[in-house]
Amino acid sequence: MPKALLINKKIKQFNKQIQVSGDKSLSIRWVLLASQAIGSSKGYNLLMSEDVVAALESIKKLGIKVLVCKGYCEIFGNGINGFKYKDGLVIDAKNSGTLGRLILGLLIKSPKKIKIVGDKSLSKRDFSRVTIPLKKFGAKFYYKTENKLPLSILGSQSAKGIKYIEDKGSAQCKSSVMFAAINSSGTTSIKAKKSRDHTEKLFKYLKIPIKINKTKKYDFINVKKPKKIKAFNYQIPGDISSSAFFIVLTTLAYNSKLLIKNVNINPSRIGVITILKKMGAKIVLKNQRNYRGEKIANIFIKSSKNLKAINCPSELNSSAIDEFLVIFLVAAKANGISYFKDISELNQKESPRLNLGSKILNMMGVKTELTKNSIKIYGQPNLKIIKPIIIKNYLRDHRIFMMSTIAALTFGNKWTIHDKDSINTSFPTFLKIIKEITDK
Ligand code: S3P
Repeated sequence: MPKALLINKKIKQFNKQIQVSGDKSLSIRWVLLASQAIGSSKGYNLLMSEDVVAALESIKKLGIKVLVCKGYCEIFGNGINGFKYKDGLVIDAKNSGTLGRLILGLLIKSPKKIKIVGDKSLSKRDFSRVTIPLKKFGAKFYYKTENKLPLSILGSQSAKGIKYIEDKGSAQCKSSVMFAAINSSGTTSIKAKKSRDHTEKLFKYLKIPIKINKTKKYDFINVKKPKKIKAFNYQIPGDISSSAFFIVLTTLAYNSKLLIKNVNINPSRIGVITILKKMGAKIVLKNQRNYRGEKIANIFIKSSKNLKAINCPSELNSSAIDEFLVIFLVAAKANGISYFKDISELNQKESPRLNLGSKILNMMGVKTELTKNSIKIYGQPNLKIIKPIIIKNYLRDHRIFMMSTIAALTFGNKWTIHDKDSINTSFPTFLKIIKEITDK
């Protein structure tokens, strides 16, 4: 049994500088795209978490040479459609929806059946969102339980570009289709509700034929098969989703300051900053610079005394999708009733985060009104937790663990938070950084 984390006092005032680990979305995309390039690509500051290691293990099974060295990871791609593997191949996506869904796009031409499996949490998640468009390319799918893992894919040698409407605001769906497009004939045309655009930015950088027309709500994306993808080195910037835990820790702590260095502030990812600033958080983006189409900055945060409730505009949902759990903690301390709507996608994550987030707030003594796709949070600027809290049975969701840790350190009382190891999914150094901040 992995040990539980015990916290029984609030964090003291701090003034620190930290660096979080590499961005998970970019790490997985770099691994998968490097496997399609020709020759040696090196990735620096690659997030070495379970999700990304699962991506490395997956491409290894598909015949790609991978070297994990000190300070970098080297991938020797075999070009587009260059996977080589034996009959009966099984790929384990573990906990990662991004890996499970994106890799299916790359397997659009697989001549033999490949089985994808995942852990308990991933096996509960919906795969129809990618199997439906991938079938249109010509792929076939085989399952025990319709549209759930484990499933097998059999590609089509005559995979052909499709027309596709992505209306969930899911970058995983959009990217899976874009990955299939680089291995198919003709043009793939996507109308996609706004979501993180790392794949688009990488395609542009790699000179993969892509055209993007942006409107307020949707991006219209055309992708064609490139002749080849050149090997590329990439320095992965820090993860805004991991940073979010420390942004909220500092916002809710007493009289503290924090600088988080080298974080990816891609506009399609910083909903958390926009939302928290609207609520009165003190966040400044410093030393902004560009790297291969991505924006990077140092984030400076100061504690806030006056936090106000928000009626959160749903246009911000996709850009804050992984951060709502910690945003809820700020709402718990804000003056007034916060309202977050059209967020049913939260229940499609590693755990049903909308339901579990609400449950944790209730345990903390915070009133919520929950529906299938919205939550109202009754903020209490002087919130005091009166009962010890035990966090258990949450499908090992890493973000539930980290949210609970931040809640324990800022709202106090006695917390027992199970499944400490879940942080290895996305942010293995999370507790080490907490210690760095706590130590004088
Ligand atoms: C991700 C997209 C998001 C996010 C996930 C990572 C990605 O999922 O929740 O953690 O890297 O594309 P959806 O695209 O399904 O919303």
